[in-house]
Amino acid sequence: MKTKGRSVFVCSQCGFESPKWMGQCGGCGSWNTMTEETVTALSAQAERGRGQGEVRPPSPIGQVASSEQKRLDTGIGELNRVLGGGLVKGSLTLISGEPGIGKSTLILQAAAKLSHRYGKVLYVTGEESEEQVKMRAERIGGLSERLFLLAETQTERILREAESLEPVFVIIDSIQTLYTEQLSSAPGSVSQVRACAGQMMRYAKTSGVPVFLVAHVTKSGELAGPKIIEHLVDTVLHFSGERQHDFRILRSYKNRFGTTSEIGAFEMGQEGLRELSNLSESFLEEASYGTEGAVITAVYEGTRPLLMEIQALVVHSGVGFARRTAVGIDSSRLSMIIAILEKKAGLSLLDKDVYINVTGGMKPEGTSTDLAVAAAIYSAARGIAVSQRKMIVAGELGLTGELRSVRQSQRIAREAERMGFSAILLPAGNGEKLKETPQLKVYCAKNLRQALDICFSGETGR
Ligand code: TYD
Ligand code: MG
Repeated sequence: MKTKGRSVFVCSQCGFESPKWMGQCGGCGSWNTMTEETVTALSAQAERGRGQGEVRPPSPIGQVASSEQKRLDTGIGELNRVLGGGLVKGSLTLISGEPGIGKSTLILQAAAKLSHRYGKVLYVTGEESEEQVKMRAERIGGLSERLFLLAETQTERILREAESLEPVFVIIDSIQTLYTEQLSSAPGSVSQVRACAGQMMRYAKTSGVPVFLVAHVTKSGELAGPKIIEHLVDTVLHFSGERQHDFRILRSYKNRFGTTSEIGAFEMGQEGLRELSNLSESFLEEASYGTEGAVITAVYEGTRPLLMEIQALVVHSGVGFARRTAVGIDSSRLSMIIAILEKKAGLSLLDKDVYINVTGGMKPEGTSTDLAVAAAIYSAARGIAVSQRKMIVAGELGLTGELRSVRQSQRIAREAERMGFSAILLPAGNGEKLKETPQLKVYCAKNLRQALDICFSGETGR
């Protein structure tokens, strides 16, 4: 393309392009995210890439050399688990999260451990000075002879340094501060972020060195968001949590080398992030057993069961319409559960505000918390607590009020037993297969009505 200096408007959230400016992105619907960018250099770069390298004929799949992926142990069990069993050589990983959540801390801890174990690690800091990173390293006990800091933002210079240092692991903190001299647009713009991530990808693949890219999730349009490069990288990790709480959850949304259902759990403390291998215990530390509106539920996340408390508050609404507020649960899911409760359990919530909270700042995935949410609302609305203090409630709710099975009920039951629970209520599909033990009584219900009868036996007010 010869159109020198042609400009386009690119959405910083999704990468949608348009020849003219728009207030709302036509791709993802975000407002004020379209920024002007020049495309000349991009196409020049594409031109350069074209026709390079040797041409190889297609090979039959059976003859492609298969190699066992070599993985590095990051020294952080929870991180290894989310990565699918360690850091794969030559892989490019994106770790995103809101500013201040602890991305730099996590990755610095891993960097220090990797350098002790395997060799030189290069930590490129574009946001903080070398002194700042050193101070953090001191705080978390992450000083290591083989950990090298580089305060640099130009990709070409970073790659030159990396080639001469020959590290075993490279970290870019953050990708939004990087720029390449091939483009004239500002660092953080969509084309810069894409081009720099592409260069890091090429470096990772040709050198076999794993690379971590840190990316901030931004609400405003000035900085390109992590979404822009998700398609390019091998693994996408997201670090989240409530800033007020100390819990931090690491999830993978894409992983070419493992499953995406694993989660890693951490606690932010004085000396950095501490791994939480016994998450249920942390979540239930302050659980309010036997209180109205509180129900303990279980979800199966990745390869482990997790117990947590769901709390509901139902109050008379003062204003014209009723509020439904959910923290940790999808709000459309909450509306559905409320509708089913009204229709199938005869609960009238028309003039009531309903609040739901999952304690510990957790956002459980999937639908197995439905029944517990319904039971918590019922308990709060009627003012009666679950009759068995230490009972786990889990199940998916169908629109007809029927209960659907949850995954891995065996493992959930074992976890419940381990945590000292004496009863578990599950959909009939699960419960019938589950063996009862002397410690754990198993209740099954076919539908919401039966489940509520069991939860609040004799006190359902009928
Ligand atoms: P940071 O890793 O800088 O976050 P990010 O890179 O995602 O922006 O961590 C930010 C917060 O973590 C900061 O507000 C202070 C807190 N923190 C601790 O509580 N303990 C620690 O040991 C460290 C290093 C940070
Ligand atoms: Mg940071």
